[in-house]
Amino acid sequence: MNMNVTSDFQIFEEKSLAALDAREALIDEVWRGLRKRPRSLRPWMFYDAEGSRLFECITTLPEYYPTRTERDILASYAQAIVTATGSDYSRRLRLLELGAGTAAKTGILLEAATRLRSEVIYFPVDVSPDALDEACDSIGCLLPDVQLQPMVANYVTHPPKLERFNGNTLATYIGSSIGNFSPEEARAILRNLRSGLRAGDALLLGTDMVKDMATLVRAYDDRDGVTAAFNLNILHRLNRELGANFDTGCFRHRARWNRAESRIEMHLESTRDQCVDIPAAELSIQFAASETIHTESSYKFTQKTLGALLDDAGFTIKQTWTDPRRWYALTLAGLQ
Ligand code: AVI
Repeated sequence: MNMNVTSDFQIFEEKSLAALDAREALIDEVWRGLRKRPRSLRPWMFYDAEGSRLFECITTLPEYYPTRTERDILASYAQAIVTATGSDYSRRLRLLELGAGTAAKTGILLEAATRLRSEVIYFPVDVSPDALDEACDSIGCLLPDVQLQPMVANYVTHPPKLERFNGNTLATYIGSSIGNFSPEEARAILRNLRSGLRAGDALLLGTDMVKDMATLVRAYDDRDGVTAAFNLNILHRLNRELGANFDTGCFRHRARWNRAESRIEMHLESTRDQCVDIPAAELSIQFAASETIHTESSYKFTQKTLGALLDDAGFTIKQTWTDPRRWYALTLAGLQ
C-alpha cells in the first residue's frame, strides 16, 4: 500500500496503543452497559478479527439481502450517480467514504468516476488500519489512476477534517451503517459531515428500507446460524480479552422487529439464572432466566423518515436509486 506516511515502528506503536485503547474501551463499555437494566452492549464490539470475518460471511447469506441489493443498485446506476454529483466545474472529484472498510463496493463508483472525471481522489476513512490497507491495495490494483488518501479515524468521535479542494466532493456513507445508530446519533454524524462540505458537494447515503417483518427477521436470524455466531462472538470476545467466564451455551441469539422504533433488534438471551464474572472490569453480573443483553439496533427507513433525517442534518434529496422491490435505497443529497 502506498500511504508512505508512517514508519513500520510507528505503525507497530500505533497498533499497540490501539490494542490498549481497545481494552479500555471494552471495560468502559461493560461498565456502561451491563451494570444497568435493560442490559446492552454497543455494536462496535462485534468487530474484532473473528467478528469481522463472520460479518463478511453474513453479507453472502441468501437471507441477508442488503449488501447484495446495494451492490446491484451501484452496478446499475454508478454512472448516473457520478453524473448527478455536483456541478462539474473542474472535472476533479474527491470521493470521501465514511466507514470504508475494505471498499468492496466502492470500486464500482470509483470506476465510473474515472470514466467521467479527469482526476479522482479517494479519501477512505475507517477505524481499522488493516481494512484501509486492503481497501487501498484493491483500489490501487483496480484503478491505478485514482489518487489514494486513506485516513485512520473513528468518524463518529473524530469527524474527518476536509481540506479545501478545487473540485466536487462526493461523501459516501453506504452499507446501511447509518442504521446502526440511534436517530440522534445518525443526525449528529450527518451534521458533522455536512459542516465539512461546500456548495456543489453531495452525500450518497445507503439505507435499508422498511419491508415485511418475516423478511427482516430472517435477514438477522439465518438458517445456518451465522448471525447467531456473530452476535455470540461479543461474549467470546469478553472471555478472550477481559477474562470473563460467559458460558456461551447458556445465551441464545434473538432477532426481533420493533415496529414502534422501526428497527431490528439483536439480543442475547440468558437461558437460565446465572452469574458471570468479568475480572478485568472487576464486575460480577447476575442474569435472570430470559433476561437479554441488547447488542444491536438496525434501523429501517421509509422515504418519509429518510427525508426527515437528511433535512434535519442540512441536506436535500436530489435523487434516489432503488431496486425493483424497493428494499434498499441509495440517496444522493445536496446541501440546503
Ligand atoms: C453493519 N450493519 C449495517 C449490519 C446491519 O445490517 O445492521 C450489521 C449486521 N448485524 C447483523 N447482521 C448484519
